[in-house]
Amino acid sequence: MKIMGKATKFAAVTAIAALALTGCGRQDANTDAAADSSAAGFDEGATIGVALPQKTSENWVLAENLFNKDLKEAGFKPDVQFANGGVAEQQNQINAMITKGAKVIVVGAIDGKQLGNQLKAAKEAGATIIAYDRLLLNTPDVDYYVAYDNFKVGQLQGQALLDGLKEKKGKAPYNIELFAGSPDDANAKVFFDGAMDVLKPKIDDGTLKVASGQKKFDQAVTQGWKAENAQKRMDTLLTGTYPGSKKVDGVLSPNDTLARAVLTSVKAAGKETPIVTGQDSEVESVKSIMKGVQYSTINKDTRALVEHTVTMVKDLQQGKELEVNDTESYDNGVKTVPAYLLKPQIVTKANVKEAYVNDPVLGPITK
Ligand code: BGC
Repeated sequence: MKIMGKATKFAAVTAIAALALTGCGRQDANTDAAADSSAAGFDEGATIGVALPQKTSENWVLAENLFNKDLKEAGFKPDVQFANGGVAEQQNQINAMITKGAKVIVVGAIDGKQLGNQLKAAKEAGATIIAYDRLLLNTPDVDYYVAYDNFKVGQLQGQALLDGLKEKKGKAPYNIELFAGSPDDANAKVFFDGAMDVLKPKIDDGTLKVASGQKKFDQAVTQGWKAENAQKRMDTLLTGTYPGSKKVDGVLSPNDTLARAVLTSVKAAGKETPIVTGQDSEVESVKSIMKGVQYSTINKDTRALVEHTVTMVKDLQQGKELEVNDTESYDNGVKTVPAYLLKPQIVTKANVKEAYVNDPVLGPITK
């Protein structure tokens, strides 16, 4: 997948502005559908498939409940499935959705490269495919992408790490370590690249030192987004790179589950708490931020993402044009997938109350 650098990002922003001016930010579902055999308009009570990955973070569990509720309320028959058993299970679930006659299949892929055959069959059966949160790669058979802006998430994480270091760890240089998500998840590299967009100039000018030398995505990945894998790698880094009283000042962590794993490892080693970033606004991490332990998280309200996805499904049902706001950034290797991107928000102790004021779970906790 190609994700824009600064220059193309500017071009994309300009393009979005131009689209807004000309009112062309909509993809015509009818012409598009005719071109790629998607359904343009279908029965109100149709089955809508939602293929979710593994329960690697709270946002996915929330999404399951919300898709069931919102799709039902909109008059559809939801078929929402988790694939905790892995890729083969997700492939089978999509096949089953085709058999049930699903008119739209929303896919949060475990591995965005492994669903090509199923997506092709789904398109042939007349379904529209929406990639949800994670892009589907190397396939022409994906119609839309809906997600929080992943590159922006990474940039916000990188900036939070820098800000936290300056705020709490005295003068530069700072020792840091880098963690990335699971390499089969299309988002993981985008988060990392976004963060490195901010951090690399500071590594190059000596403000930041990746003391282990492990600066590359491949060295930083956490298979399966599993806490135990991040904790093990952090244990190894601490033993190998931070003997005695040597301090690790900051850790780039791509999400909250891994942030807590890193913090557990540091605590067990008896080291001072580093600045650790996160993502997902998980309950335990938000509590930790309020206590001043984890430094930051990202607010990507799952309710808004599911709500927008269900709006897309409703528009498809009515044969309406779908609203997209990015037609340049998400090249999946075969095509540029029209995307609707929502804006992520950085959360630290400083804005934790405002950030979740309308959140039914986090609002009462952060009051
Ligand atoms: C999501 C993140 C999440 C991760 C692990 C990613 O694709 O965008 O929000 O932390 O999966 O579940």
